[in-house]
Amino acid sequence: MTTAGRVIKCKAAVAWEYGKPLVTEEIEVAPPEADEVRIKIVATAVCHTDLYHLFEGMETELFPTILGHEAAGIVESVGSGVTEFHPGDKVIPLFINQCRECRFCKSPKTNLCDKGENGGHDELAFEKSRVTCKGKKLMPFMGIGSFSEYILMNQTAVAKIDPAAPLDKVCLIGCAISTGFGAAVNTAKVEAGSTCAVFGLGAVGLAAVMGCKFAGAERIIAVDTNPKKAEKAKVFGATDFVNPKDQKKPISEVLAEMTNGGVDYSIECVGNVEVMRSALESCIAAWGVSVIVGWTDREDFAARPIQLIAGRTWKGSLFGGFKGKDGVSEMVRAYLQKKIKVDEFITHTKTLPQINEAIELMKSGQSIRIVLNVSSE
Ligand SMILES: NC(=O)c1ccc[n+]([C@@H]2O[C@H](COP(=O)([O-])OP(=O)(O)OC[C@H]3O[C@@H](n4cnc5c(N)ncnc54)[C@H](O)[C@@H]3O)[C@@H](O)[C@H]2O)c1
Ligand SMILES: [Zn+2]
Ligand SMILES: [Zn+2]
Repeated sequence: MTTAGRVIKCKAAVAWEYGKPLVTEEIEVAPPEADEVRIKIVATAVCHTDLYHLFEGMETELFPTILGHEAAGIVESVGSGVTEFHPGDKVIPLFINQCRECRFCKSPKTNLCDKGENGGHDELAFEKSRVTCKGKKLMPFMGIGSFSEYILMNQTAVAKIDPAAPLDKVCLIGCAISTGFGAAVNTAKVEAGSTCAVFGLGAVGLAAVMGCKFAGAERIIAVDTNPKKAEKAKVFGATDFVNPKDQKKPISEVLAEMTNGGVDYSIECVGNVEVMRSALESCIAAWGVSVIVGWTDREDFAARPIQLIAGRTWKGSLFGGFKGKDGVSEMVRAYLQKKIKVDEFITHTKTLPQINEAIELMKSGQSIRIVLNVSSE
């Protein structure tokens, strides 16, 4: 029996309250309206940004929500005016739209889109939400909310991908892999023969290591306070591993000594303002480029103007600088052509009802990425 045009009742992991475990509930997902696509989620992973919203962000008013934004699935049905997608297409939902028509989309200088983050994770997203549980609207986190069997997306925030792509692997391209890889390749613009440092070796940081290697960096110093990350970093191309906790001096001084004055490029993938400053100070004063990827909107960062005046550049990177649709389909192709690694990021697989175990694993630092298998392809 076709589900097109009807409300779908399905399972989702609902975050009712800040800091509390998620609850598997039956939810209702409305049929797609004009320009919308309803997607059956096949696989989704847990990213630190989900944990940030649940435990660190303090935006307690933005609940109840469905977390999850690193996912892949299959188009179930489309609304009027949608010609790019058809039921059965393999897709990855995006947290950065690409409408192809606005001033941002037409500029090669940015990956932002005037349509904003798909819906945004703010009060407006609540009003617009057509996903409900027990009569309450649920906010789709980052405009996606993929800890659910079905989601609704605007067509400008969906990337069509190669039908040969295994969805339980390429879901990671929806956030971590594109974010870290692109931060090195697109934002830092790492050069062949250069020296790099990556701070924080979760999936985002490991993807940044992979990006540095891809760009031809000669030396890649991986930095993490968790010693268990050392082996994994080598898999993606790190040449050295430094644990700041083992050092007597500040990490920036240690790196400066190791590299004759500082690295050419440093990439912060932790989300900690002190680490952001260390990353800046670790790159060479004359021409170093430091990129902020880690997420926080609670604290200010600090640096001395003189640290930039001599020639350092401090930049941020959202989704690795990739335009949503173009970047994701290109990264999926790169994976199928074996130019980038994806499987190596996955340390655990679980099912949607095991979401709280996955969150605890992620918090404990024992995992890189946990893929939740939500439905069959
Ligand atoms: N800019 C973007 O578009 C974007 C997209 C996705 C994720 N993010 C952010 O990127 C960050 C990383 O995400 P993730 O999913 O890889 O997280 P993760 O939790 O898996 O990894 C973070 C790593 O940082 C390490 N760490 C913690 N404190 C450290 C310190 N003081 N020095 C060095 N290492 C330290 C941890 O041990 C861990 O290995 C998060 O802040 C996330 O919100 C940003
Ligand atoms: Zn993410
Ligand atoms: Zn646009």
